[in-house]
Amino acid sequence: YTPSLCNLFAKNFYIGAAVTPFTIKQQEELITTHFNSITAENEMKFVSVHPSEDEYTFEKADTLMAFAKENDMHVRGHTLIWHNQTSDWIFENKDGSTPTRDQLLTRMKTHIHKVMGRYKGEIYAWDVVNEAISDKEDEFLRPSKWLEIIGEDFIAKAFEFAREADPHAQLFYNDYNEVNPIKRDKIFKLVQSLKEQGVPIDGIGLQGHWSIYGPSIDLIREAMKKYASLGVRLHVTELDLSVFDHEDKRTDLTKPTNEMLSLQTERYRDIFQLFLEHRTHLESVTFWGAADDYTWLDHFPVRGRKNWPFLFDENHLPKQSFHEIVKLQQKS
Ligand code: G3I
Repeated sequence: YTPSLCNLFAKNFYIGAAVTPFTIKQQEELITTHFNSITAENEMKFVSVHPSEDEYTFEKADTLMAFAKENDMHVRGHTLIWHNQTSDWIFENKDGSTPTRDQLLTRMKTHIHKVMGRYKGEIYAWDVVNEAISDKEDEFLRPSKWLEIIGEDFIAKAFEFAREADPHAQLFYNDYNEVNPIKRDKIFKLVQSLKEQGVPIDGIGLQGHWSIYGPSIDLIREAMKKYASLGVRLHVTELDLSVFDHEDKRTDLTKPTNEMLSLQTERYRDIFQLFLEHRTHLESVTFWGAADDYTWLDHFPVRGRKNWPFLFDENHLPKQSFHEIVKLQQKS
């Protein structure tokens, strides 16, 4: 007998999965059994829903919304303003000139209102701004067209437009490498300053693209404490534990080694133990996929190299890590 992961954690936090129209077909039973929240892996991103100025393409996003509705699942919206997967037209006028700050702000507002408006009341939390902080030590915000044309307040503006568009949706800032102390402190500083300015922000999304080797539980704990001290909610938004170290570019494995799997089991147990410690402000834990047959890590950082980052294997069977997490929850 395999208990349902989301039922087991129902008192603590939602258990989510990033999905696509393809994976909801391939993994339907697994997803509907163990997850009570979904995020569109790509289908709500700018380029997916707003390819040109007067064209909106919501078919795939609508498919995922219908799936959530049918199965009584929550939906996290991902993502409104990002430097990546954003249509070129927004940063270039038809005559080839660069839009002014006001022009770009108008386009930003239109986009946010249109996308959030379509799913108003149906998406309970949105990643309003994604990955705006720089990974470089001596740089605060990541260079992007948003920053270049609008200025630093593009972030505040995005949150303001989002609040107008759906006043009941929770608004998140979402980022990766989020427990690295240098980046963590920058994320903290950004969100603290937004709050001081009265910008409507409700939470911080920790993506959680980690591995079986790191970051340490202490670093994750420190980051969660520090973020929570701002009085915001926390979501883990894109969890996966790569079986490879960042430097490991090996491509010859056709299945994970036993050593990898036992490290992964330990890590998942320790991480979920920590999540349980934070259950008062941690509201949702979303994996960036559902089972090992489909993961973006099969194409990153080495294209075509298989990875096995989840709690369910390529046949959708629970791994040892799943059983450890179940035990944890049963003890608590
Ligand atoms: O849609 C095209 C398709 O038409 C084309 O034939 C194919 C050829 O490569 O590419 C398809 O687009 C790909 C897209 O995923 C949809 O499958 C892109 O090449 C590929 O780059 C894109 O990757 C996505 C990536 O974001 C883009 O940055 C991953 O699936 C997605 O998992 C990943 O998700 C991000 C989060 O949004 C933000 N945080 C990090 C996370 C992982 O990178």
